[in-house]
This record gives sequence, C-alpha cells and structure tokens, in this order.
Amino acid sequence: QCPSGDDSSVQGLLTQAISKAKADGVLGDKDFIWGTATAAYQVEGAWNEGGRVPSLWDNFAHEGKASNDTGDVAVDFYHKYPEDIQMMKQLNFTHFRYSISWPRVMNGLQRNEEGIQFYKDLTAELLKNNIEPVVTLFHWDLPDIYDWRNESLVEPFGQYADIMFEALPDVKYWLTLNEPWVFCKLGYQWGVYAPGVVSETDFLTCGHNALKAHAKAYSVWKTKYQASRPDTKVGITLNADWRAALDPTNPDDVALSSKEMDLVLGWFAEPVYGSGDYPQSLKEHFAADAPVFTEEEKASIKGSSDFFGLNFYTAIYVDSTKPYGQHETVHRNGELIGEETASEWLHIVPWGFSTMLKYIKNVWNPPSIIVTENGVSDGRASTDKETLVNDYGRVKFYQDYLTEMAKAMIEDDVPVTGYIAWSLLDNFEWSQGYAERFGLTHVDFDDPALPRTVKKSGEYFGSLIPNVTAQV
Ligand code: NOJ
Repeated sequence: QCPSGDDSSVQGLLTQAISKAKADGVLGDKDFIWGTATAAYQVEGAWNEGGRVPSLWDNFAHEGKASNDTGDVAVDFYHKYPEDIQMMKQLNFTHFRYSISWPRVMNGLQRNEEGIQFYKDLTAELLKNNIEPVVTLFHWDLPDIYDWRNESLVEPFGQYADIMFEALPDVKYWLTLNEPWVFCKLGYQWGVYAPGVVSETDFLTCGHNALKAHAKAYSVWKTKYQASRPDTKVGITLNADWRAALDPTNPDDVALSSKEMDLVLGWFAEPVYGSGDYPQSLKEHFAADAPVFTEEEKASIKGSSDFFGLNFYTAIYVDSTKPYGQHETVHRNGELIGEETASEWLHIVPWGFSTMLKYIKNVWNPPSIIVTENGVSDGRASTDKETLVNDYGRVKFYQDYLTEMAKAMIEDDVPVTGYIAWSLLDNFEWSQGYAERFGLTHVDFDDPALPRTVKKSGEYFGSLIPNVTAQV
C-alpha cells in the first residue's frame, strides 16, 4: 500500500472546489494557480557576483548570526536556474513565485544592468517553459544602506519597483512585500532576523514605513503601468499563525485571541483591505507608541492590493490567564495543538488553515485570496538523504492542508484562486541556516555540486496538478 494513502478524496475535493470557483466567477477567465516558491537570498547565492551589493542579511549571516550558515552560495540558483525550471516543469507547476534581490538590481539609486538582466533571463526562461512568474519585490534582503526604521527608504523603494515593473512587462502577478510582520517583529523587536535590533517600539516604525513603501510601489504601478497592463495584478503578502482561544468557552480567551489576530494580521490587513488605518485594538494596545497615518497616507494605503496574499503554516492557542507576552501556548490539557516539525514554531494544524481562510473572507471579503506559501520542514530528526527524499509526512501535510482549503472553498465560498507550495528546494532558512528543510526537492549540501533530487512530495504535486486540472 502506498504510504501516502488514498489521494482520490483530496483530488475530488479540489476538483469540486476549483470547478465551483470557476462557476462562481471567482477565477474570471483564469485557471487556478498551482505554484511553488523560493526567495532570492534563500536560493540564489552569487552574493558578490554581477555587481550585487551587500544586504542586511549578508552582514547578519557573515557575523555568524544565522547558525553560522550564510547565503553566499545557498543552492546556487543564480547559476542553476535553467535546470531548476526543467524540474518545476516536470512537476507540472503552472506558476513559480520568486523574488528579486534589490541589492542585485540597484546600487544605491543607480541601476545595475547586469542584475536586471539576470531577472529578465530568468523570467524569459520560465515563460519559454510555459511557467507563469509571480514576482516578489521584497523578500527581506534589504540593501544595507537602508533601514526600515527610516522613512527615507520609501522613495527608493518606489524607484526600485518602477525599474522592475518596466523591466519585466510579462509578469502578471507582483507581490510588493513578503510578510512585513516577520521582518519587522523578528528583525526589529526580537533581534533574531537581520538587522538584529532588540527594541520595544522599533517594529512599529518598521511596519509603518513598510506600509508606506508598499503603497508607494502600488501607486507607481497604478499611475504608470496599470492602464497598459489591465491583466496584471499587484498586491502584498501577509502571514499569521491562526490564534485560537485555549478555552473557547472562556470569553477572556476568545477576546484575547481576537485581539491577537488584530495585532498580527490586522496590523497590515486592516490598512490595506479595510479602513486604510490600523485596527482600533492596536491603537489602544500601543497607545502613544502607535504610529499615526495622515489622511493622505490612509487614502493611498486603502485598497492598495488587488488580491489577498496569504502565507499560512500553523496555529497557536491563546491563554488569557497568563500575563500578556506569555499567553501563547501549543498545549491544551497536556495535548499538543498539532504534530511537531523541524521548526519550533510550526505544528501541523490543518484546521487552522480553513479557519484562517474563512476569517479573512468574513473580515475583509477580498475578491480573491492567493495562498502564496504553505509548507512544512524536516531535517532535524534525520539527515539521511533516503529518509529526507521519502518524505511521506510532507505528502500527508499537503493532503491535509489542501483538503481544508478545498472545504473552505466549497462550504464557505472562500474565493481562493491559487496555491503556492513553499518551497521548490531545500534552502537557507534564515536564522536556522540549512538545518530546516522545506523543499519539495532535496539538495545535498555536502556535495559542492549541490545536486537536486525530487522528493515524494514533489512527485505528489507532479501527479496531483494534472489530475485535478483534467477534471475541472
Ligand atoms: C515564510 C518566509 O516567507 C520564507 O522565507 C520562509 O522560508 C518560510 N516562511 C518558512 O519559514
């Protein structure tokens, strides 16, 4: 018997869900997006080639703050992308999400033609192979002359966005920023991500400038490109772990979990998809420390995303009997919220996914939701290649999460238009270095040639996608 179990019910549900999205007009004249993803610093390597200048992450990693690993070589995607594109094609993905490295395409305010050309070539190679690009402008590798606490990066970010919009006219999906919650909280409060700042309030300034930079890029898009490319969509991608009340019958747990959703997801989603301003609970929570938008800024942020980009992984309980800050737990009555993975923060909680999707629909009712990341790590319990390649646990993860997504689409009309698996390849997992593997493809880091081997989970998508597509 196949250890990945019976897949027909998953395929059946996805077929039903996508057919419904088509019939309801949610997909318009488009097909469902089946993608896989990477980010520049996590895969490219070539950190000092082709005129690339240093980013905050180069410095952070070179100081030994990423488990003594660096992205200097990473998985050498910079040189190996043609072969990786063939692999993607073999796995039947229709879309590929990748990011542009800002320090590769600009040196200060100067264009770096060699860097721009790299992304033109990469994009052309994808299109030649019938894979549609989904391009992220900022996936954390900030040129080290900038700092998210300083508003002066907003204009340069707009110029950078302009250069890339102009350079890649065939891209149909753009993401301005990836997970501002993560790069602001982990980079400017907890100090575990670049630039490693520990502060009680700087993360709020970071988030404030991130929203302004996002709105700037969106307005450049709107004023200069939208009319001539009506088919292209531009948005932001946000993340949050679902916050569930530890005791759903305790009103204090319920209230605190809802406040936490405001402070994590609402922090960015409410300005962009809601009122143009921060949630009331965030303003009350941070009081005088909460940054304030001008009316003009609010107007530019409100509505500045054509879809809801969501990165989703896990869920956590909220316990109001504990002091604020220690109120998150993964245990209920001694039982874990979900199976553990190689990442401390990631438990396998499929029901969290459908709950989150329904929440987004109920609160902001966006025209569409693109799941821009979903995936799971292994690689700590075993470093044996055989074991890592036969990743039946990851296959099960995808089956269970996809089932929940399909149910939310069928039963609750959640308008999901795409699903992108994280990640195409094992890669540099930020402060955890190479110890946590999220790939659908194994990379042998002990071999300088960095050979790739498709895992069972990669093969899983390879058969799932055409099977579902054939029935829709
Ligand atoms: C979110 C980030 O966007 C990505 O860079 C990271 O590798 C995955 N989640 C897994 O942690």
